[in-house]
Amino acid sequence: MADILELKNVSFSAQDQVIVRDFSYQYEEGKTTALTGPSGGGKSTVLKLSAGLLVPSHGEVIYKGRNIAHMSRKENLEFREEGAFVFQDSALWANQSLFQILELPLLVHFPGMSAAEREKRIQETLAAVGYKKELNIRPSMLSMGEQKLIGFARALVCRPRLLFLDEWTESLDDSAANRLVRLVKNRQEAHETILFVSHDLRIIRNLADNVLMILGGELSRTFTREQLNSDEDLALYLEKGIAS
Ligand SMILES: Nc1ncnc2c1ncn2[C@@H]1O[C@H](COP(=O)(O)OP(=O)(O)O)[C@@H](O)[C@H]1O
Ligand SMILES: [Mg+2]
Repeated sequence: MADILELKNVSFSAQDQVIVRDFSYQYEEGKTTALTGPSGGGKSTVLKLSAGLLVPSHGEVIYKGRNIAHMSRKENLEFREEGAFVFQDSALWANQSLFQILELPLLVHFPGMSAAEREKRIQETLAAVGYKKELNIRPSMLSMGEQKLIGFARALVCRPRLLFLDEWTESLDDSAANRLVRLVKNRQEAHETILFVSHDLRIIRNLADNVLMILGGELSRTFTREQLNSDEDLALYLEKGIAS
């Protein structure tokens, strides 16, 4: 399979601190890659760099052969439409209704869509993530888990081909988490490219084609699905690595 997204010697520093160091990896098109490792290791930063939400201090992020930092406005808008991000803390706008939050990406990326079509698309997406409550309320009225579902729906509403998911099953009960796992599986079957951050070995085993272990801001090791499932020592190492 072709490579869709590539990090080339990417480093990221903030406040005189190196957070990601010389990170290189080629994500495969149509595959699911899990980013794992201990808290504070740099997983969210690598995911945001991969999605073009942070600009590297050094190195390049290449999407379909183009450096994200040097894209034209039009190319950048296309990249934003094709890729969607679910944030670790959901990151929903506090002063907007849930409907407005879900409608905005459609207004930006599909300006020709009618109000009725937008409404239909939003309802379909909410049914897929399993959110059943009303939409004319603000995010502060939701539990953390419900906010996650809305964050997921916002990411899916434009039907992206590239999904970035950060700690996406955290704060969900088992039934909501299982629903999202099934949803991700459906998208895998449609050969979409998925990058996700998780500490949950069960979810990683269930979904990932490739696993990146990130320690101290560096790519420490990579594993394939076969290695994860067949090698018990490796599973132990991974469990310890995640727990440490
Ligand atoms: N903008 C920033 N400024 C300063 N420190 C940051 C910034 N972003 C992340 N960090 C620090 O970098 C480290 C890695 O963060 P993060 O990528 O969120 O790790 P993870 O997702 O693996 O828990 C943490 O110690 C975090 O506090
Ligand atoms: Mg994180």
